[in-house]
Amino acid sequence: MSLLQGFLSLVLSWDGLCQILYVVGTGLLAVAAIWTVKLLMRHAWYMQRLSCFSKPHTNSWLIGHMGKMQSTEEGLQQVDELVQTYKHSCSWFIGPFYHLVRVFHPDFVKPLLMAPASVTVKDELIYDHLRPWLGQSLLISNGEEWSRRRRLLTPAFHFDILKTYVSTFNASTNIMHDKWRRLVSEGSTDLDMFDHVILMTLDSLLKCAFSHSSNCQESNSEYVSAIVELSDLIIDRRQNVLHHWDWIYWKTQQGKRFKKALGVVQRFTKEVIQKRRALISQQKETETQSELTTKPQRKKAFVDIILLSKDENGQGLTDEEIQAEADTFMFAGHDTTASAICWTLYNLAQHPHYQEQCRQEVVDLMQGRDEHQIEWEDLSNLPFTTMCIRETLRLHCPVQAVTRKYTQDMTLPGGRIVPEGAICLVSIYGTHHNPAVWTDPHVFNPMRFETNNEGRDSHAFIPFSSGPRNCIGQKFALAELRVVVALTLLKFRLTPGVNPNLGSSSGGVRRLPQLVLRAEGGLWLRLELVKLPSNLEEPQG
Ligand code: HEM
Repeated sequence: MSLLQGFLSLVLSWDGLCQILYVVGTGLLAVAAIWTVKLLMRHAWYMQRLSCFSKPHTNSWLIGHMGKMQSTEEGLQQVDELVQTYKHSCSWFIGPFYHLVRVFHPDFVKPLLMAPASVTVKDELIYDHLRPWLGQSLLISNGEEWSRRRRLLTPAFHFDILKTYVSTFNASTNIMHDKWRRLVSEGSTDLDMFDHVILMTLDSLLKCAFSHSSNCQESNSEYVSAIVELSDLIIDRRQNVLHHWDWIYWKTQQGKRFKKALGVVQRFTKEVIQKRRALISQQKETETQSELTTKPQRKKAFVDIILLSKDENGQGLTDEEIQAEADTFMFAGHDTTASAICWTLYNLAQHPHYQEQCRQEVVDLMQGRDEHQIEWEDLSNLPFTTMCIRETLRLHCPVQAVTRKYTQDMTLPGGRIVPEGAICLVSIYGTHHNPAVWTDPHVFNPMRFETNNEGRDSHAFIPFSSGPRNCIGQKFALAELRVVVALTLLKFRLTPGVNPNLGSSSGGVRRLPQLVLRAEGGLWLRLELVKLPSNLEEPQG
């Protein structure tokens, strides 16, 4: 009691208060000084270790390239210049905080992406902001945790499972086409592809991941709006360095909106998982587990397969872990695939002769059929359309770059060493546009993919990344892409469109590299209904 009284009288007296403030202030200054010295020493260490890489000009040893990496058309052109100048790689630093090696040649990309997952770590620069949404999921976990999850989730992408989703891709595409037909008949012939295709890929994914029909292409869905909002807010946060610190971000308007949208998404996923678990335990009484996971004839949602997956010790994932994975599929699967679809349609609109060649391929495939439905077996019979899709994934790769850290020094060709802990930014865009790798890299030429990989470096074409941390959903995406592109060409002729708000003054398309590659102000195409030969018209009703 007397101790407390002594303390109070010290605080309440003016001299006492000054003494306390002095001690606290000196303490804080000392902490800040130690932090600054450590930061600068770390900076100097990285600068020295990374001196074996060429460094583009900077105005200051401290600020470095801060603010020079832009998510704009000019930002992409800057990558083109870097690739022209440095050919393989260069070093880059964002203030004294982040030290990067930017890599854009297959010889350098390969050892980094093929490194064992045990030494690979997803870095904080790109992935940390996803953590509140995606938790410790496949996309961002590391080491043993990642490898257990990858083993448990791989069965969900087995061919036998993917096959059953093709009818869903057809159905979701047809809903979008009905909408387009309506709009064209009302005179709205110019449409922003992203507006429509994102809703369609979300619709498909909701059906495939959760067996959930959201009707989101026709009416507003709270869940879908929340996913779109979360994706936008993540880009916003990435671009504002102050918002990188949690304690600032959660107090901002954007942070509050993020939390609200996250609540909507997580409530939805949680509810679906609980319902599916209950349904599966009812069915379990009649079927064995292997029948449930692999039986091809019945359609199963991803979430059902994951609910049933067990590791070698008979352990499955908890509801919380399943929720993180389901959220990750929704996040990683919707706008990547939408971007690839939109840019494929754009490239075909720009090149009418290639568009006609693809259309002819689909028309030939549909000969003698009553229904215009793309089947699983058809996917391998669309070689030219597939070449156009691959060329789009090269020229307009949806994901521009992936980043990694390593728990050991990594040796690159020529003896250059990436030190442990430095961030490696593997530029998919840079590799795909490197003139040392591709002739006329900015030209859309599907004939590059005529022969399968012949004479091409295994890491020259990496839209889905490569190595142990490659995209688990790539076969799903390629199947959906082929269905959507084939059906679209069968029903619509595409030409470059105009944004009605800007009119013809909009100029050319300006690429917008965000979480995925988009277009500033939208990607506008003009649609015209295709008149099919009479023997190919679908019976009405
Ligand atoms: C054209 C469409 C797609 C593209 C271009 C694409 C691209 C990529 C890339 C580049 C990565 C590596 C990311 C990194 O290392 O940080 C990745 C990983 C991943 N993707 Fe995709 N993706 C597509 C579609 C999908 C779909 C449809 C799904 C799921 C339904 C999906 C799920 C994932 C997951 C879960 C990972 C993390 C894999 C791991 O680390 O083990 N992706 N994707």
